[in-house]
Amino acid sequence: MKEKLQQIKEKAIAAIEQTNGLEMLNDVRMSVLGKTGELTSVLKGMKDVAPEDRPKVGQMVNETREAIEKLLEEKKIKFEQEAMKRRYESEKIDVTMPSTKKEHGNLHPITQVRNQITDIFGSMGFEVYEGTEIETDYYNFTALNTPQDHPARDMQDTFYLSPEFLLRTQTSSGQIHVMENEKPPIKIISPGKVFRSDDDATHSPMFSQMEGLVVDKGITLCDLKGMLDEFVKEVFGQETTTRLRPSYFPFTEPSVEVDVSCFQCHGKGCKLCKGTGWIEVLGAGVVNNKVLEGCGIDTDVYSGFAFGIGIERIAMLKYGINNIKLLFESDLRVLKQLDDEK
Ligand code: DAH
Repeated sequence: MKEKLQQIKEKAIAAIEQTNGLEMLNDVRMSVLGKTGELTSVLKGMKDVAPEDRPKVGQMVNETREAIEKLLEEKKIKFEQEAMKRRYESEKIDVTMPSTKKEHGNLHPITQVRNQITDIFGSMGFEVYEGTEIETDYYNFTALNTPQDHPARDMQDTFYLSPEFLLRTQTSSGQIHVMENEKPPIKIISPGKVFRSDDDATHSPMFSQMEGLVVDKGITLCDLKGMLDEFVKEVFGQETTTRLRPSYFPFTEPSVEVDVSCFQCHGKGCKLCKGTGWIEVLGAGVVNNKVLEGCGIDTDVYSGFAFGIGIERIAMLKYGINNIKLLFESDLRVLKQLDDEK
């Protein structure tokens, strides 16, 4: 029996030695210690051993099994360590390799400028009213003191959808909606897209405006000027000043064209300001009493001012662009350069 066990042990040791992986090692385990394994069959044959010899034989079988199990375990650990090492090797990362460049988007420059302007007016207490891009002729023109056959209608080439409906040509229409629905004091800005049949280097059939309206007791042109002075300093720099020139809009009386001192040459005269030292930036004025009265506002008590800013115009000045199309062509090489949020 002793020799038999010794034989089994030696055979097992040799077999374990020759294994090349966990699978093969498991086969050896089964062939020795499994249900039909060699050592198991020796155990099964214990019943034929004389009772007085059983403890001794049992002990020998146990010792053999333990020895084989120990070897199997050692070999198993060795294979597992090797497998782990191979995995580490294959998954090794070179942390010095340059990473792949991730492109990330940003807001369109027009959206950025619009947000900046909205923030400036927001800090002055203005609320935002966003109107609709499809308007009626009444809100876009008639209520703004521009009835049918008024010559000022020619200033804006309009896309009509029907005799009654049109694509708004100006965000000024927002003024009327607000005044019809709210009582003074009113202090709103109305940003949004507007449309005109107009197309050249500085005009596009679709562009963006921001209307502003303040209605309260005792509002004058001075309030407008003071507020605009603050606004242009925020947008174009603290040394910027404003100049008002008389103009005409049907919905304001008096009406003004607002110029800013040239932020490039500081008034000396350059290409940007065409040698004048001034750049035109927006239209504004004191709200025409006819407009206020049409909205049911008592002009003995209240007065107001309004202004209309072209957002693309501000963006073009700010970024030094001379063709509005650059803002709409979605050329990433251009858009990447016009990012204030970098
Ligand atoms: N709506 C005018 C335009 O599109 C801009 C404008 C001028 C708006 C004067 C105003 C204003 O509120 O007072 O040309």
